[in-house]
Amino acid sequence: MIPNCDSTTIVIFGATGDLTHRKLIPALYNNFHKERLTECSHIVGFARRDWDDAEFRRRAKEGVVEFSDVTLDEATWDKFVSRLTYFRGDLGAAEDYEKLAGYLAKLEGGPVNRLYYLATSPAFYGQACEYLGQAGLAAQDEGIRNIVIEKPFGRDFASATALNEQVHTAFDESQVYRIDHYLGKETAQNILFFRFANTIFEPVWNRRYIDNVQITVAETVDVGERAGYYDQAGVLRDMFQNHLLQLLSLVAMEPPASLNADAIRNEKAKVLSAIQPIPPEDTVRAQYAGYRHADGVAPNSQTATYAALKLFINNWRWKGVPFYLRSGKTMPEKTSEISIQFQAPPDIMFNLSREDGFTPNTLSICIQPDEGMHLKFEAKVPDAHESRSVDMDFHYRDAFKGVSLPDAYERLLLDAIRSDASLFARSDEIKLAWTLIDPILQAWQDNTPPLTTYNRDSWGPAEADELLARAGQTWWLGCGGHENGE
Ligand code: BG6
Repeated sequence: MIPNCDSTTIVIFGATGDLTHRKLIPALYNNFHKERLTECSHIVGFARRDWDDAEFRRRAKEGVVEFSDVTLDEATWDKFVSRLTYFRGDLGAAEDYEKLAGYLAKLEGGPVNRLYYLATSPAFYGQACEYLGQAGLAAQDEGIRNIVIEKPFGRDFASATALNEQVHTAFDESQVYRIDHYLGKETAQNILFFRFANTIFEPVWNRRYIDNVQITVAETVDVGERAGYYDQAGVLRDMFQNHLLQLLSLVAMEPPASLNADAIRNEKAKVLSAIQPIPPEDTVRAQYAGYRHADGVAPNSQTATYAALKLFINNWRWKGVPFYLRSGKTMPEKTSEISIQFQAPPDIMFNLSREDGFTPNTLSICIQPDEGMHLKFEAKVPDAHESRSVDMDFHYRDAFKGVSLPDAYERLLLDAIRSDASLFARSDEIKLAWTLIDPILQAWQDNTPPLTTYNRDSWGPAEADELLARAGQTWWLGCGGHENGE
């Protein structure tokens, strides 16, 4: 060990998989490049494949070259790669964790902190935690032992609870980091700064001024090669239970007393617990045309690739304000955004009817790819007696020139290494989210509402528009150069 060098060992389970290749190794390299990971850290890849250190390192380099936003620099790479080693082991074999314990002790040569990362199939999460515990790898007498668990965390309330119990046989809740990569996105982190580091928005951030809130996470990709997972999961489990409900909590939560992890997570959990049960008639489920022909999809699959829903938060701030959430694959554009639609002013001096093209003030929080914010407001058309919507924009690319937005995994890995859990989901948040999603899944299984089809390259089925039309509202897209919604 190099004396006085802050050392951490990161053990990646599932080291030969896609996530490690595309996200984890590039994120670790970037952190190393930015000197946030020291030269005495170790990165150990654990997997069953017959690889050795050289093969692991070779593939790691390919991953960095292809997926890192930092250009690989050979001198830095040489230092980084010397920290990478491969341990061949079987996740399902308890004795391999014992062997791993011996291997790590020898590699580290003294007490250091460790981060375990479960980048494996979810089927292994519980068992891997138990085996880590049995091999003494979760005990913290020789340093911190944190564990990162990827999504999906369970497939319903019961399985998430069972998984929590299994995880807790070895790890205390304070050691567990359930990752939701949406929380690591700069723009998602900025929601709290935007709301609470400014004074002008918070006074109007409530039911007295806001008409409705919309969260859209649209993807252009189809199910691709992930049908094996996706056809079992569907869009509610894949996107809503985690990413969309997490974004919603950030938008709707009360100010926390501090930026401390539990202070933030307490407020997020309060929002989730205040959401009214969502009736099936306030949900829309649809499948893109041709989905059933994809490799690995059941020919009569009922899996939704698109969903929209309307929910209400039963508290003083939000009572009566509809929150509309939608997400789907094969949409015309990739965009993740949150629209806050404010109420129309009293129609006294101007003709402000929506039929005449009037748009209420709308704040769009652009999560990706057009990172920034757009505020739409009315202005008088010069030399005429009418008003028109105009835009006030903030773009990261202009305001923070030369600063690239780090990938979510870069930040989240660093936080987990530093034991900062504020951007990770706590067990109660996960359970509350499943409490909301489970009854919808149940109703869908009973065919309520019926599954509909939507065309590729469309914004989803007509039913989703009707969901808003019933309340005199329409979907809004305000990021990426959209001027007037869709
Ligand atoms: C993942 C889902 O969690 O998020 C994928 O499993 C989805 O289906 C992805 O494509 C979207 O992430 P991003 O960061 O590209 O919006």
